[in-house]
Amino acid sequence: MAKKNQTLGEFIIENQASFKYTSGELSRLINSIRLAAKVVNHEVNKAGLVDIIGAAGETNVQGEDQQKLDVYANEKFIQTLTKRNIVCGIASEEEDDFIEVNSQDENHQNKYVVLIDPLDGSSNIDVNVSVGTIFSIYRRVTPVGTPVTIEDFLQKGNEQVAAGYVVYGTSTMIVYTTGDGVNGFTLNPAIGTFYLSHPNMQFPEDGKIYSVNEGNYIHFPLGVKKYIKYCQEEEGDRPYTSRYIGSLVSDFHRNMIKGGIYMYPKSSKNSNGKLRLLYECNPMAFLAEQANGKASDGFGRIMDLKPTELHQRVPFFCGSKNMVEKAEEFMKEFSE
Ligand code: AHG
Ligand code: MN
Ligand code: MN
Repeated sequence: MAKKNQTLGEFIIENQASFKYTSGELSRLINSIRLAAKVVNHEVNKAGLVDIIGAAGETNVQGEDQQKLDVYANEKFIQTLTKRNIVCGIASEEEDDFIEVNSQDENHQNKYVVLIDPLDGSSNIDVNVSVGTIFSIYRRVTPVGTPVTIEDFLQKGNEQVAAGYVVYGTSTMIVYTTGDGVNGFTLNPAIGTFYLSHPNMQFPEDGKIYSVNEGNYIHFPLGVKKYIKYCQEEEGDRPYTSRYIGSLVSDFHRNMIKGGIYMYPKSSKNSNGKLRLLYECNPMAFLAEQANGKASDGFGRIMDLKPTELHQRVPFFCGSKNMVEKAEEFMKEFSE
């Protein structure tokens, strides 16, 4: 049972037994994400000091090269997961191909692969607006002790064993699921400990917030245009409020707490939208469903899609159940 103010470390140990594969490996994996999140958090907090300590591409006063934060976050998460030999493979938004981790060594019996968006919302870094990290975890499908293959990564979202995100916001939080609800932990930066602050998070079934980049309106499919107009109509509890941060993690987090829908539809410029199925949409879809919400590509369930490519894009509609279902109704009625 989740107890408020429990530390993330205690929570992981206490809940390990309830997880269906209790090798402790998944616990070590979540623990290493917790560690990398703290390191990246420290760097994100310093981002505003670039004028003082040097911008990306420059050399700082210690003679070290400054890195872009997305590159830095990518390195930190990969280092943490590989050096401690926690997983057998990693795929990242920042890497063209997946990374194999010692999976040919018979002493390494790691069963899990991780897919990650190390820095989500990168356009917000330089303007002091919340960014995040998204992760998705699967058991490999190929035999332990053999090299990981692309098949280990191209699994349906439905097969995820865990997923979550870190939000580097006004406070830093880790929110994750292992298929038994969603729990959120807030970092106390003074002592570097995450505490359970949001047990059993749930999307309200209805919401009043819609989040979409309306600058692309002219390029959206008719169903999306009609749904946006529906959100803006004066009728019942409408018009809804429009809120768009431009960091999926932050928009999702707000909508889960307050009730809302996030949309990144396809457009006449982007036939599959922008967001990546494997390390953006699937983990968010798993969290949404575990929190009584819904995630769709406009016509069907995100987690039922069979991926064909590592960096595949997909239209994304995610949030409060009744809002996503309404958007799907419009997509169906006005499909072109
Ligand atoms: P990333 O920073 O990992 O590339 O992801 C950015 C994504 C998502 O977080 C955000 O909601 C969306 O792109 C914003 O895109 P637009 O600027 O096109 O609205
Ligand atoms: Mn992203
Ligand atoms: Mn990213």
